[in-house]
Amino acid sequence: MEQKGSVLMHRYELGKLLGQGTFAKVYHARNLKTGMSVAIKIIDKKKVVKVGMIHLIKREISVMRLVRHPNVVELYEVMASKTKIYFVMEYAEGGELFNKVAKGKLKEDVARRYFQQLISAVDSCHSRGVSHRDLKPENLLLDENGNLKVSDFGLSALAESEHQDGLLHTTCGTPAYVAPEVIIRKGYDGSKADIWSCGVILYVLLAGYLPFHDSNLMDLYRKIGKADFKFPNWFGPHVRRLLSKILDPNPNTRISIAKIKDSYWFRKGLQIKPTVTETEHTEVTPVDVDGVFGPCVNGNSVAESKQELEKPCSWNAFDIISLSTGFDLSGLFEETDCKNEVRFTSNKPASIIISKLEEIAKQLRLKMKKKDGGLVKLEGSKEGRKEVLGIDAEIFEITPLFHLVEVKKSSGDTLEYQRLLKDYMRPALKDIVWSWQGEQAQQFQQQLEEEEQLPSHALQLQVVST
Ligand code: ADE
Repeated sequence: MEQKGSVLMHRYELGKLLGQGTFAKVYHARNLKTGMSVAIKIIDKKKVVKVGMIHLIKREISVMRLVRHPNVVELYEVMASKTKIYFVMEYAEGGELFNKVAKGKLKEDVARRYFQQLISAVDSCHSRGVSHRDLKPENLLLDENGNLKVSDFGLSALAESEHQDGLLHTTCGTPAYVAPEVIIRKGYDGSKADIWSCGVILYVLLAGYLPFHDSNLMDLYRKIGKADFKFPNWFGPHVRRLLSKILDPNPNTRISIAKIKDSYWFRKGLQIKPTVTETEHTEVTPVDVDGVFGPCVNGNSVAESKQELEKPCSWNAFDIISLSTGFDLSGLFEETDCKNEVRFTSNKPASIIISKLEEIAKQLRLKMKKKDGGLVKLEGSKEGRKEVLGIDAEIFEITPLFHLVEVKKSSGDTLEYQRLLKDYMRPALKDIVWSWQGEQAQQFQQQLEEEEQLPSHALQLQVVST
């Protein structure tokens, strides 16, 4: 049990409880050295292991490092004890946006500004292949300047909150914000579902109540499925037109983010200058009329970065963590054999990675077997000094265009494996490798230390005992 005033990892003094879910509690905390406020999400490892969610957490943490946007709550670092995982996050001191709506509907211009920031955040995340899948009131926070901060992007598997939203009388798990295709569980496109949720959120901001409500759950489903809602009389024609296109029950014809950004209602009053202020830890993204909302200040537009994922243009502790020993956070759960295990990231689709492994197997006269769950087994036919050499390559999808590949020796002689890896496999993988574990981390750690951007203690994933 965490207690107010207790000190975590010798570094953070815990404050009040901010929220509570099935697997996690979120506390306000203060960095003892800098005095900076943070929010710390404390996840109970045992519960997570019990329901088999380790993989999801590992994957989603890796995803979070890809997302850096002024309207997305930043994940600063991840720490762990024997029993807990700690996510140290940006603290949004303004609390939940919906506390504002609880006092009454918002003025159109105010609602528009929040909606612009929401769309900006969602667009940026989608361009990195990350959908939220659980956009709802408790995930919309405000910072000290009244800017929107979306929380739990990439952590939706953990977002099963028990929080109650006073105004709307919705508990989490009600489908009020959920797209029809998600309800019917047919397999859905997370980005399209997010757009629907943004529409429900916009409606609520302007109306002060939900577009779909019914005390009977089946009737509520029916209403959502048919997009059966009415506009209050104060909704103007432009926002009606936009909302009708967002709340389209058919995900295939539902308006895209690009078109939302191009709509008359959305563009009205859009500031060319950034709408958010820079904080110590956030790279500011200009919010402009053309909708260049991606986090790269000097990078390409969101649309351009769809095909090939760019390297993040700024690096924080989390990037380093992600590329160093704790990349997949397996250190939180199990020992790894660093000598016989290497990892690389690739911004190529899984099919290309597999083809490359096939090519390598052919050249090295290894047999290759594809197993379930992204596992590829390479096996030698002739004996080495010991037994037959076996190499496993496991491909983890972080986003459809970003993969982590773990290569390890499954059998045979270590020296033979290491020589093969160094002299042949690593050079042969060159075309598909984005970064090798350790190398990039070292390089960027050096670079960052030179630039004094980061305290060196922040570069390590901390595993401590309680
Ligand atoms: N509640 C949940 N996450 C939070 C955060 N990052 N800041 C403030 N309150 C929160």
